This record gives sequence, C-alpha cells and structure tokens, in this order.
Amino acid sequence: MDALAKIPKVQLWDTFTPLEPQVHLAQHIGAKSVLVKRDDCNGLAFGGNKVRQLEYYLGEALTQKADTILLTGAVQSNFVRTAAAACCKLGLACHIQLEDRVPKDDPEYKRSGNVLLNEMLGATLHYFPEGENEEGADQNLKEIAASLKAEGKTPYIVPMHPSHPPLGALGYIEAAFELVAQFKQLGFLPDEIFVPSGSGNTHGGLVYGLRVIGCAIPVTGVCVRRGADQQGPRMLERFKQIAELLGQPNPVKDSDLVLTDEFLAPQYGIAGPLAHRAMRIAARMEGLILDPVYTAKTFAAMLQSAEQKPERNLVFIHTGGGPSIFGYGENIRDEISNATETADS
Ligand SMILES: Cc1ncc(COP(=O)(O)O)c(C=O)c1O
Repeated sequence: MDALAKIPKVQLWDTFTPLEPQVHLAQHIGAKSVLVKRDDCNGLAFGGNKVRQLEYYLGEALTQKADTILLTGAVQSNFVRTAAAACCKLGLACHIQLEDRVPKDDPEYKRSGNVLLNEMLGATLHYFPEGENEEGADQNLKEIAASLKAEGKTPYIVPMHPSHPPLGALGYIEAAFELVAQFKQLGFLPDEIFVPSGSGNTHGGLVYGLRVIGCAIPVTGVCVRRGADQQGPRMLERFKQIAELLGQPNPVKDSDLVLTDEFLAPQYGIAGPLAHRAMRIAARMEGLILDPVYTAKTFAAMLQSAEQKPERNLVFIHTGGGPSIFGYGENIRDEISNATETADS
C-alpha cells in the first residue's frame, strides 16, 4: 500500500510469524480448525505485538534524529520491555515510566518478569503513581524529556493519550496483509479472528488492514484494559485516526467493530477464572503459553465462542506477553500449576 510505504519505519525483525494449527485443541473444543498467529515469536527480546508497532514509532524517532526514547507502561508492560530491547538494537537510550495500574505489591510483580528484563536491557526506570491518567503520564514524560534536552539529548516520546496519531497501528495493517497472504497460501478462509483490544493499535490496525484490501472476515476484539462502553468509541476513533494518518478514506464500517468485555473481570492486569482456565487449556493441550493480562482473556473468548458455535475455523492472534508470567508466579501456581483438574475442566 503506497500510503503505508511513505511512512518512516525501522526494521526490527525480518520475516513472517508462523500461523500454526492447533489440532488437539480444535478437536477438543469442537472447532473445525484453530490457527494461532505466533506474533509472540517475532524475535526481539521474547517478541510480541509491540515489535510491529515500535517499527513505526522508532521510524519516526530516527527521522527526528532522536537519541533517547521515553514511554510509559504498567509495571509488567510488554511494550516498554520490547522498546528497551529495540533501543539497544538501534543504539538509543530508553527511559521507561512505570505506572501503578494494577493493585499488586508483591516482590515478584514489582521486580521479576518484564521489570527484570528492563533492567537487563539497561533502560532507565521512572515511576508514575497513577494508573488511569494518560494525560498526566504524558505530561510527566514531557518534564523528564525537558530535563534530558537540557542535558543535550534529543528525546522522542511515545505518547499514551489516545488523541495522538496511532503510528503503532500501522504495524498491524502489515500484519493483516501477512495474515491474508498466509490464508491464501493455505487456501483457507477463517470464520472469525480473535485479538486483544487495549490501546487499540493491534485491533485497530488489524481490522483496518483487512477491510482496506476487501477482506470481510469478522474480528472480535477482546477488551483487556477497559469495558466495551469506553473501548467502543475509542476504537471507532482509532479507525478514523488511521485513515487520517494514511490520508485515505476510512474503509472500516461501524458494524465491523465487535467487542466483548466478558473476560476483563476482575480488572486490567488481573486474570479471572476463565482466563486461568484458558491458560491451563492452552498450556496442557498444545504447549502454548499465554500471559494472564492479554492473551489468556482473548483465548478465553475464543474458547467460549467455539463452545457456543461449533464446527468453525478460528484464528487467534497470539500477541505475546510471556515474560509477565514471572511477575504473576504465585497466582499462576495457585490457579493453574497446582490445579488437580484435567486440562479442559
Ligand atoms: C501481550 C500483549 N497483547 C496485547 C496487548 C494489547 O495491544 P494494544 O495495546 O495494541 O491494544 C498488549 C499491550 O500492551 C500486550 O502487551
């Protein structure tokens, strides 16, 4: 797509992610097939969806000759970990602001998993005491950036507030093209695709990318950050913002937006029983590791959909998040590892 090719991008990895059939699982849940798009395997420091998104943010940063990247995430954010790794690769400094978004104070959550990796990757860590103040978090980063500028650095901020152009979503337009090429190669058309919906860049880019090339496969966005009442308007705005960024008419109709928030409870960053069940089923039936914050909730939505409507071809976008498991060790041990039930119960 010409409009996409004009936007600066830096390449952080160089191949397709696999689209893997899950035969055992499909038989078990009564689906005709389940394919997993392994974006958790895209190569950079345990991978994940944010690698595709960072190619565009860091593309812009390099065009602006930035030498220092600043961004915000939850304590166990995968975005900031992948950004720290990308910065190492590109010779940039990385300042990470961790915000208090999840009511968990245990040392595993605060120090292990992605936090440990941020430290290994040499990022400078800052803390922001709130979890639902995107404007405040951006403002705080601006202040850190101002002091870095005074020291002679050239900072680039990856903003949180949804009013900013969704550069990250462009990475998922590419993912949509990649996915459709893989479907064609397999001679296969799925009935439904499941993807997490947080900032909306993954979900937004994926739906936009499919529709802009005339592919009408339904996509269900699974709310992982906020309820559908708030996520819905954000997503409709996202589609428009992507179109504006590309200077194109918006190919996404309001009816293309399908969201469920049934699996969000009890809140962002904490898995409920259905998400823990999904983690157990994926691990024990397919050796597929899900994270408790994003992919487990999304997989739970796919499982429920398969149970309600059997004999369909389903696709699950595995967006990564594996390292955060080590920040949730105790919960996982209690809810999954020590569970005595069989994989599917
Ligand atoms: C593993 C994983 N999956 C999904 C998401 C949600 O993606 P998005 O913010 O693009 O909606 C995130 C966000 O941090 C993530 O880390």
